[in-house]
Amino acid sequence: MTTANKINHTLAYKHYVEDQYFQEEQEKIFAKQWIFVGHASQVAKVGDFFTFEIANESIIISKDKEEKINAFYNVCPHRGTRVEKGKSGNKKVFICSYHGWTFKLDGSVNRAPNFDKESLGNHNCMTHINIEVFQSLIFINLDPNATPFQEEYKELVDSLKQYTFFDSLKSLRVTERVIDANWKAVVDNYLECDHCKIAHPAFAKTFDMENYNIDTFDRFTCQYSEMKQGDATDPAFFYWVWPNLMISVYPGEEGNITTSQILPIAPNKSLAIYSYFFSTDEITPKQQELIEFVDQVRSEDFELVELLQTGFHTRAFDKGIYSPTEHGLKEFHRQYRETMDLPGQ
Ligand code: FES
Ligand SMILES: [Fe+2]
Repeated sequence: MTTANKINHTLAYKHYVEDQYFQEEQEKIFAKQWIFVGHASQVAKVGDFFTFEIANESIIISKDKEEKINAFYNVCPHRGTRVEKGKSGNKKVFICSYHGWTFKLDGSVNRAPNFDKESLGNHNCMTHINIEVFQSLIFINLDPNATPFQEEYKELVDSLKQYTFFDSLKSLRVTERVIDANWKAVVDNYLECDHCKIAHPAFAKTFDMENYNIDTFDRFTCQYSEMKQGDATDPAFFYWVWPNLMISVYPGEEGNITTSQILPIAPNKSLAIYSYFFSTDEITPKQQELIEFVDQVRSEDFELVELLQTGFHTRAFDKGIYSPTEHGLKEFHRQYRETMDLPGQ
């Protein structure tokens, strides 16, 4: 009895507010798990790069002369300065502004003034990071001993193989928003649709809420529902990928996806990066409609999660309880407990 009761309780609220857990998550989750950083179209040409912040690190993702996509720490091997200050662009070499070391597109030292290049040892390159590209989705893992992505996420890989159009997409719009809530609160919100009828009137009108499915798998969940309106016959699919990625696939002749990356900033603050991917060069009126629909649903969710976060500080309860249709959430919390080594919580 006691065990059953325990299982039906959510993650304790302290995990959403206390700095101790926030710091532990950086080490055990964001520095050890596979994290989605972007789409291959963001580094389409040789010299294209973008930077990405995770686990208190700045990372460079770049395409080198061999057309290989690399990921390495944005830290100068000379004395530790951040090398690339920009968010994205195209470069022939990366230049450290401190003593002028320059680096090739794969992170290796090009010039090191005052040094004999042969004498640099392992300081002859910015430190490489595990990277895997699957269906043009780029994942990195700061753990040098990480299990390969496609092995660890085998079930997800099998499921995403059906979307052959991922490779033809490019990001046509990116919006960023700081949310006053813990990153897990934002993920929790995505993982159930019990709130949809109340909070998302337009969404509830568009999708068949009586036949709304949430399937759970190893390290991901998939929600799907058919549309009640419009001419599309395929359902929309809403994937969540452990720990902090969401991929939505809406029906339509040409494929499209939207990705959401929820990045922790502080125990009560997160950065959400939303990217809209289409196969066209410009946003069509129909795509604009979809963007507005998705934005509307999101803004309804922001209000809810920020309201939720204010309650986590309460003395009234130390945790919540799951409804029978909040099993997606439950799976996320199970994976969280396992990764964070939380005994029997
Ligand atoms: S710290 Fe980068 S060149 Fe010296
Ligand atoms: Fe929602």
